[in-house]
Amino acid sequence: MAKLIFPDHFTWGAATSSYQIEGAPAADGKGESIWDRFTHTPGNIWNGENGDLACNHYHLYPDDVQLMADLGLQSYRFSISWPRIFPAGGGKPNQKGMDFYRRLVDLLLQHGIKPAVTLYHWDLPQALQDNGGWANRDTARYFEHYAAYVFENLDLPVDLWVTLNEPWVSAFLGHALGVHAPGENDFSKALRVSHHLLLAHGLAVRSFRESGRKNEPIGITLNLAPVHPASDSDADKNQARRADGFMNRWFLDPVFTGTYPRDMVEIFSRSFEMPVIIEEDGAIISSPVDFLGVNNYTRIVVRAGSSDDDFMGSPVNPPDAEYTEMGWEIYPQGIYELLIRLHNEYQPPKLYITENGAAFADEVNEFGEINDSQRIDYLQAYIREAWNALQEGVPLEGYYAWSLLDNFEWSFGYSRRFGLVYVDFSTLQRIPKNSAYWYRDLISRNGLEV
Ligand code: FCB
Repeated sequence: MAKLIFPDHFTWGAATSSYQIEGAPAADGKGESIWDRFTHTPGNIWNGENGDLACNHYHLYPDDVQLMADLGLQSYRFSISWPRIFPAGGGKPNQKGMDFYRRLVDLLLQHGIKPAVTLYHWDLPQALQDNGGWANRDTARYFEHYAAYVFENLDLPVDLWVTLNEPWVSAFLGHALGVHAPGENDFSKALRVSHHLLLAHGLAVRSFRESGRKNEPIGITLNLAPVHPASDSDADKNQARRADGFMNRWFLDPVFTGTYPRDMVEIFSRSFEMPVIIEEDGAIISSPVDFLGVNNYTRIVVRAGSSDDDFMGSPVNPPDAEYTEMGWEIYPQGIYELLIRLHNEYQPPKLYITENGAAFADEVNEFGEINDSQRIDYLQAYIREAWNALQEGVPLEGYYAWSLLDNFEWSFGYSRRFGLVYVDFSTLQRIPKNSAYWYRDLISRNGLEV
């Protein structure tokens, strides 16, 4: 049996997000978010479900922190719900909302668990949506204001700050494909939204540098996946390059170089209205970050579409592969490929895997246990590839499993379980799955036994 030991300072954690676990949509003065609105609009979510109760983490957070401590988690990545802090997006802050996160962070610190705070995991205040949402450039300024308020008022040590989670998903699933809030189908608008999200990120980083917070790293989390051609044909290879431009480079390039990828600008501008970009935007967006957060679950395989302007192509599911309940291919070597590429091409000072995990149809057996061996295999294979990347000199600093708890999986409602911990949604009882105990052991030996 080989032991793959990680560096001493490596951080092991688990991640969640506000809308997916908190519940309490109107508690203590919280304002409505676009996800509150979207889930309450019929037809959007599997089985008509919503996050009104979710895991009720807003009220059960002390139990959840205890659970994290029992599992030996070294860090916990969660997100702050913007409309808890600014119910109307801007204007008057809601002290009670801030107090909730202060209590949470305080309790984490008491248990020696490092807080990793995401400022935006998709729950925009509905009041800002009513004003045009992310398609309105002003929203970036509102975000800057909200971020600055949190930097000042969450006056406890934070280990990692993430400005935005997966802006690609907010922009395109929310505004072009319409499957996420706010549920729009307008690609030109989605491009504009992507620009304003990037601007919001850059403005928040700038404001962080001007804040009193020192020695705490700030970065952004992107959903990234290797894109492979379905065959060796030139058409498929070119398709893969375009799909990579759309999925990965459209956000990586501006964050690290201040410009959008030229090939994609050409393609997009032939069919869509391009965002208005002001001269200073590139410099704001590429304000130096301390790390890049990588969310990776799978890879993408594409076959050439109908024209050279097709930037998505036809997705292909390789026949002999294994798939999770999301229909995502299990492709562990993809995370290695991705980490090496990011290190070589973009050179972020540090990298974190801020999300990785798998949904399976978990069941509680007659002994009250959840034997999720497929999840253990998945995590082990991906973590092993992360270790391989470390051996190649990639400055990977930590790994966060998605997710701590089974939770509200967006348009899939409660039908997809990603947790290390099982949640019975009728009683809200939490039961650690076997993967949670496996992860606890991995953390205690700081490595894998394979
Ligand atoms: C990511 C999201 C996270 C969760 C996982 C499965 O795209 O950041 O909230 O939905 O996928």
